[in-house]
Amino acid sequence: MAVGSAGVGLGICFGLDWRLTLIAMACTPLTLGASYLNLLINVGARSDEAAYARASSIAAGAVSNVRTVAALCAQGGIVGTFNRALDGPSAKAQRKSQYMGIILGLSQGAMYGAYTVTLWAGAYFITKGWSTFGDVSKIFLILVLSSFSVGQLAGLAPDTSGAPTAIAGILSILKRRPTINEEGTKRRTIKDGKPMDVELRKVIFAYPSRPDVTVLNDFSLRVKFGSTVAVVGPSGSGKSTVVWLVQRFYDPLGGTVTVGGMDVRELDLKWLRGECAMVGQEPALFSGSIRENIGFGNPKAAWAEIENAAKEANIHKFIAGLPQGYDTQVGTTAHKLFLKKLLTNLNFQCQS
Ligand SMILES: Nc1ncnc2c1ncn2[C@@H]1O[C@H](COP(=O)(O)OP(=O)(O)O)[C@@H](O)[C@H]1O
Ligand SMILES: [Mg+2]
Repeated sequence: MAVGSAGVGLGICFGLDWRLTLIAMACTPLTLGASYLNLLINVGARSDEAAYARASSIAAGAVSNVRTVAALCAQGGIVGTFNRALDGPSAKAQRKSQYMGIILGLSQGAMYGAYTVTLWAGAYFITKGWSTFGDVSKIFLILVLSSFSVGQLAGLAPDTSGAPTAIAGILSILKRRPTINEEGTKRRTIKDGKPMDVELRKVIFAYPSRPDVTVLNDFSLRVKFGSTVAVVGPSGSGKSTVVWLVQRFYDPLGGTVTVGGMDVRELDLKWLRGECAMVGQEPALFSGSIRENIGFGNPKAAWAEIENAAKEANIHKFIAGLPQGYDTQVGTTAHKLFLKKLLTNLNFQCQS
């Protein structure tokens, strides 16, 4: 549209006074050159992307663990780390703004210079009797307006040039595939009634994000079918890691994890996780009704099952007494924390 309107504008100007239009057109390389320089300066977000990602992960980590940060009075330290992560982009931005200032001055100077030359030539043509005041005014207005529309087009260029950077980031996320997925397994299951001993044999494990810290080193544990075992240890000693390995959120670096004598890597992932029930330290509530939250681990749970689970947990009366009963939306209720604890336990009961 911008190019079209500029073309029509130029045609009309040529019809009115070709000499003045030629002079005005001779000035366009000045304005276009300035816009191009503007564009060159605007491209270059690519190198800062990593620094911004690091800074936002520091901020996100601090916000999600705000209690720990506050308990350790580490607010100052976090702000310092955040600022240091942005040192690079900040210095670059300062340098860039100086260049931008010079280039903006140049481009504005070129634009107003072009207008001045056009008006000056127009005035000269009028005094010589080659053109009229009316025609000069029309040509000037038309050229100003069409250069505006072309300028708008150039204004889109920084966004367009930023797209390849953004698309590369989005595509790399879309292309990511979990290393543990269902396709790789043999999709075996264990028949109901078969004793399902859980065994970790000489397991060596480190988290992929911290490969240098070995969490489990030659760890072995056998839990016999039907028995109750408590794994006890200080915080951070790896108790939760053992459970996550059994649920196959990670694969061990050495040793094996077996359920019912079968390596978990050979078992159907959905089936395996469906057989495990877990009550986490940190309960989670999902937006939706109480009924949906209780049945979260088993969307096919019948209404009676949900109600029975609530009865077993002694919360049925409480839920039934709420104005909307089981349809109460948990995200908005004042009993959120209370419900969070109770429903997490229920969720587990409903699944098991
Ligand atoms: N997702 C993770 N990435 C990296 N390290 C982790 C992760 N989860 C836990 N860890 C580390 O693994 C160790 C064991 O953690 P965890 O199994 O949660 O211990 P516990 O449950 O006994 O408190 C700790 O040092 C913890 O910091
Ligand atoms: Mg734990």
